[in-house]
Amino acid sequence: MDKTKVLIAEDDEELLWVLERFFKEKGFEVASARDGNAAAGVLKAGEPTLALLDINMPGKDGLQVLADAGAAVPVIIMTAEGTMKNTLEAMKRGAFDYITKPFDLDELGRIVDRAVQNIRLRRELSLLKDRLKEKWADETVFVGKSKAMLEVFKTVGKVAPRNVTVLIHGESGTGKELLSKLIHSNSPRYEAPFIAVNSAAVPRDLMESELFGHEKGAFTGAVESRKGKFEMAEGGTLLLDEVGDMSLELQAKLLRAIQEKEFYRVGGRHPVKVDVRIIAATNQDLEKAVMEKRFREDLLYRLNVVTVNIAPLRERKGDIKLLSEYFLESFTREMGVELRQLSKDSLAEMENYDWPGNVRELENILRRAVLLSPSLVLTPEDLSLPRRRLKRESIEDLITKRLEPFIEKTASKGRQELYDTVMPFMERPLIKLVLKKTRNNQVRAAELLGINRNTLRKKIKELNIRLKELKD
Ligand SMILES: Nc1ncnc2c1ncn2[C@@H]1O[C@H](COP(=O)(O)OP(=O)(O)OP(=O)(O)O)[C@@H](O)[C@H]1O
Ligand SMILES: [Mg+2]
Repeated sequence: MDKTKVLIAEDDEELLWVLERFFKEKGFEVASARDGNAAAGVLKAGEPTLALLDINMPGKDGLQVLADAGAAVPVIIMTAEGTMKNTLEAMKRGAFDYITKPFDLDELGRIVDRAVQNIRLRRELSLLKDRLKEKWADETVFVGKSKAMLEVFKTVGKVAPRNVTVLIHGESGTGKELLSKLIHSNSPRYEAPFIAVNSAAVPRDLMESELFGHEKGAFTGAVESRKGKFEMAEGGTLLLDEVGDMSLELQAKLLRAIQEKEFYRVGGRHPVKVDVRIIAATNQDLEKAVMEKRFREDLLYRLNVVTVNIAPLRERKGDIKLLSEYFLESFTREMGVELRQLSKDSLAEMENYDWPGNVRELENILRRAVLLSPSLVLTPEDLSLPRRRLKRESIEDLITKRLEPFIEKTASKGRQELYDTVMPFMERPLIKLVLKKTRNNQVRAAELLGINRNTLRKKIKELNIRLKELKD
């Protein structure tokens, strides 16, 4: 610990002199004040780590100085009268301790030792808190400035400090887990554990024990009793990831645990009480799951007190540039290499891509590009986005729209050979258009289609495509 500085505020010169010597001998640096105003000034400047204040002084009295200082440093009050009222008042205002004049220096020494101990603990605690805050700040950088994301941040800002249950909905890789950490780290529970349990990753018959723990001998293999995730999250936050994958039986137990704030371990006879904040995440439509009787309606209402929807990346293209810059900066810093940029074409391609794996996919593609490509400006070739997925969904939508009325009409006519009727009509225009585009260059056409050249030749024949007609 740095040298500790003590403020001594005492208007009796003789006693002040004795106290100064006492503290200097103990290795303190000493700041002296002979009246309350001077003492308040020294405290305000924020230098001392400990203060010894007389109550009766010219200017402000010790109690006032104590009240003004708040509880920033431990304050020991010296009272001449030793009246109940003064000491009570001093303790009420947050004094560390008091000592009644006349006192001997040993007595003062003991109080000072305790105060120093207290300072050390306070410092360690605040250091720990700072480190924890830093750790969370590093781990929960959530990038985004699209309208959709700003809405999400607004909601998170509102709900994080309160104890409400939050349901986070979003496709795979949109940042559901990251967002739940952001909520936890901005809640008063941030010093307590954040625990995640993934219902899709744990076998169904083990899930109950995973959540609630088990007692020794509860089932074959339960050689020791074990805490479940609920107990591990005590005081903190529990993320129920992929909550839609939970069995109906377990959903009932979960509902009870949330409502009653208590549960039984597997094989346990006594209820275990917990204080846990629940966040649930899902990529499923739980309303639909309720209709299909796969998810309990009462549990859904318990979980979706507040629902946060994270939009898929293709619906917030504005975030692609920002996220890319963020990932490129952090990967290159991690790897100790020069910062990379995206070429204009690359950005355009990325903004056109449909990102089925959302932010996780973006993260992976950029990490790979930084690893594999030496160029400082990343081209589309460096990124090599999976081409076949380019706008895959919108093509499907397009075809569905056209096909639907046709199917409606034909289906009413009873038995049909729909497959054989429709498929050639899908293939023919596709192959014809690609051939036209490549000016009948079959090698290029096969490449574009991503099929073998011989297959293409066969198809041209089968589908009766006339190459000559395609030229202009
Ligand atoms: N807005 C964002 N800013 C920065 N990083 C993000 C953002 N969104 C997601 N990520 C990162 O993308 C990856 C996937 O995020 P996360 O695991 O939270 O997604 P998820 O929705 O839980 O996915 P899954 O449904 O597959 O479990 C993580 O590495 C996460 O840090
Ligand atoms: Mg997840």
